[in-house]
Amino acid sequence: MTKKERRSQHDLLQIFPGIFKIDDKLATLNAYPGNTVYGERLIDVDDKEYRLWDPFRSKLAGAIKKGLKSSGIKKGDSILYLGAASGTTCSHISDIIGKNGIIYCVEFSERPLRDLISVCEVRDNMIPILGDARKPQEFKKYIEGKVDFIYQDVAQPDQIRIFKLNSDMFLKDGGEGFICIKSQSIDVTKSSKEVYKESVKELKEYGFEILQEVELSPYDLNHLFVHVKK
Ligand SMILES: C[S@@+](CC[C@H](N)C(=O)[O-])C[C@H]1O[C@@H](n2cnc3c(N)ncnc32)[C@H](O)[C@@H]1O
Repeated sequence: MTKKERRSQHDLLQIFPGIFKIDDKLATLNAYPGNTVYGERLIDVDDKEYRLWDPFRSKLAGAIKKGLKSSGIKKGDSILYLGAASGTTCSHISDIIGKNGIIYCVEFSERPLRDLISVCEVRDNMIPILGDARKPQEFKKYIEGKVDFIYQDVAQPDQIRIFKLNSDMFLKDGGEGFICIKSQSIDVTKSSKEVYKESVKELKEYGFEILQEVELSPYDLNHLFVHVKK
């Protein structure tokens, strides 16, 4: 069983909607008290429960640690998450959006999907979808209307094109997104900086406004985290 600790309000600092620091460690307010997803520690502050958020396990946490200026995501949002894996980052977003929000978690590999489904059984604001992010028309039927935000972490050579495809189909006008650009998945013969520059240029050519770029080392090597607006 995960060990639970106690802290006082003095140790708690809210840095973004639904995102906190406790003793300089990131945490989200647990929307499903008692539930842990990847062995993270739970901490009680007064009558509320927080889940510590590991920046080495989640690129969004890494980006916040590296100076992300806005978390983009807020309570009640609808989110399309491409490359959900077993649901580590999705579960923290599930905390941030709360029970009135919804996060559609798309994953094409059956092994992590099995773990993801177990997480979604408890967290009913997470919807697991077995689907290929390259074929949004195939999972369109599971998504209600347009979403406020797209989070993409698929580590594929055509990741920018995939983001554009999904944005055209699902993202509201003025909606925002995070794209985790893994340079090694795009072109191993070029330097990471070169790949980042070309990827950001491609995003701009597709008409996205670049709100911020955050390089993720040491939390994730060869990754650029980009915050965009449609
Ligand atoms: C780096 S992992 C994602 C980790 C996850 N975002 C997290 O922070 O918890 C990338 C995931 O994307 C999935 N993936 C890659 N290409 C995909 C595609 N075309 N459609 C759906 N999922 C894909 C992989 O199977 C893998 O689970």
